[in-house]
This record gives sequence, structure tokens and C-alpha cells, in this order.
Amino acid sequence: MLNRRRFLQSSFLGSSSLLVNKYKFGELSSQGPIVLSTWSPNVKANAAAWTVLEKNGRALDAVEKGVRVTEADPSDQSVGYGGLPDRDGKVTLDACVMDENGNCGAVFALENIMHPVSVARLVMEKTPHVQLTGEGALRFALSQGFKKENLLTTESEKAWREWLKTSHYDPMITVDNIEEEINKQKPKEVKGQINNHDTIGMLAIDAAGNLSGACSTSGMAYKMSGRVGDSPIIGAGLFVDNEVGAATSTGVGEEVIKICGSHTVVELMRQGLSPEEACKKAVERIVKRNGINAKTIQVGFIALNKKGEYGGYSIMKKFDYGVRSFQGEKVYNAKSIY
Ligand code: GLY
Repeated sequence: MLNRRRFLQSSFLGSSSLLVNKYKFGELSSQGPIVLSTWSPNVKANAAAWTVLEKNGRALDAVEKGVRVTEADPSDQSVGYGGLPDRDGKVTLDACVMDENGNCGAVFALENIMHPVSVARLVMEKTPHVQLTGEGALRFALSQGFKKENLLTTESEKAWREWLKTSHYDPMITVDNIEEEINKQKPKEVKGQINNHDTIGMLAIDAAGNLSGACSTSGMAYKMSGRVGDSPIIGAGLFVDNEVGAATSTGVGEEVIKICGSHTVVELMRQGLSPEEACKKAVERIVKRNGINAKTIQVGFIALNKKGEYGGYSIMKKFDYGVRSFQGEKVYNAKSIY
């Protein structure tokens, strides 16, 4: 069982008025290396990433190593192996990476490969492209030595068969019925989040002061065949600008895509906002777009700036994120609009 230590986020954040001209390429983080990721169960992924960062390793290597932990964990039914399938019973995975040089790679709707984050990295490093989808992504993965595996666990298949009895599909969940929806849409053994899916988004700054990020998901449970959310889309599910900062998202991907969420957060940090303020502004943009319906949506962002300051914000309560640094492991409850 994970120890969910809670800390007051506001007391840890530094100055909110960071000016763009303070950022210099390669400037050292004031706090040393840091890794953070969406959702507190992913502290185990942060721990793996930290083994790279504490030895002065590269942020890109750290986030890949970290995200692979969650992808290989069958008890996490929203990422990688054991992810809940689409409505046809197929586990289709989305992932992306972005490094300190603005290089990026992504895979969409990849089947039968346990580590889409690593395939995304190879798309970045070994092809002239940024995104590969479906069958093409699979063929590329196989050409790089990845092995086909069955990713549908007995538990996830059981949950899907149970879902088929009603085929109730409502990715929007109201604040008032959060607990009810968690119990209805997730198998009991899964630690409930406030949505019927989530994601691992991970950001890191290394000892050299360079930023990278990665994002991986099996997407919305029982999604329409072919549906892809924000997670593999550079600028939506993840964005890194090594002069400013990095951001990643979780929640209803359609809403994140509509505001180019992670890119928006980074641009707001460039304008001088702290990571938490930038995440809040992006979330407010989604809320404004949706009016009264915003209460049926969960989106959360986390962000990390060049100085090693970080923060998060969500539309609805119960979004948390874990942070690992030389100061140890911390878990924060993000502030939220509702
Ligand atoms: N945020 C993950 C998705 O919408 O697929």
C-alpha cells in the first residue's frame, strides 16, 4: 500500500513572478534534479526515474525509465499492460516523449507492445517523423526488437465483460456523483480516481538543468475504437521548452486538446506565471469554455519550470501528484476549481 503523504502545496512553491529573462539554456535548477508525475500511485515510477537523476543522468532517460514502471504494472488499469480496453476489447496505447532540444516522438493506438514510451522515444531518435499510429507504429516497434505481448489481463477482460452488460459510456462525470461513478466504472481492486481513466505524465529536470517529459496511457476505458486523447499529442498531453519549463496533463483528453493544454501552460510560465498559476489559468480556460458543463469534466495539469519550481491544478478535487528530489518523496493534493 502506498504511503500517501500530503503536503501543503502552497507553502512549498517559491516566487510567483518568474521573468522570462531569468531563464538561460542550461542554467542549473536551484534545487537540483527533480521528477514529478501525475497521480500519487506513480511515486513508484518517480523512484525509478530518480535512480537516473541522482547519478547525474539525463532527464530523458529518467522519464522513460519511470514511465516504464507504470506501463509494466498490471494493477494500473489506465496505462500499459493491464490497461482497460476499448469497447471491442482491444488494449490500445498512446505515448509520447519530448527532450531538452525540442525533439519529440509519439505513438498512437499501439497494440500488443508493453512499453509505448520506449517506442515513442525511438520514433524520435530513429525516424524522421514525430508520430506513428496503429499498424505502422506496431511494425516499427517490431523492427526495433520489441516483442508482441497480450496486454489484456484477466482482471481487465473481466471488467470489460462486465461493462459490456450495460455498455454505459460517459466520460464526463459530475462532481456530485464522483464516488458513485468510481465504483460503477472501475473494478474494486483499482484505486479510484475521479475519472474513468487517467494517465502517467512525468516531467524531470536533471543535474545539468535540462528538462524532459513523457506521457503514457491506455486512454479512456471502453473508448470508441480509434479514439485517441491528449496523451500522445505534443502540445496537448506534454510540452517541454528547455528555456522555460515543461507541463503534462491528465483527464479528459478532448478538453486538453481543445486548448493545446500543456503548451498553454508552458507559454503562461514564459509570461512569468509560477507553475501552479500557469496550470490554474489553463484549467480556467477549459472551465470557461464549458460553462456549467465544466463540473462534468476532470482535467489536471502539472508543471515544472527551469528553476525546479513545480505545481499542479485541476478542475475537480482529488487530483494528486508525486515529486521526488534530494529532499525526498512528496505527494501533493492539487488545488482545484471545484
Ligand atoms: N488523458 C488521457 C486520455 O484522454 O486519453
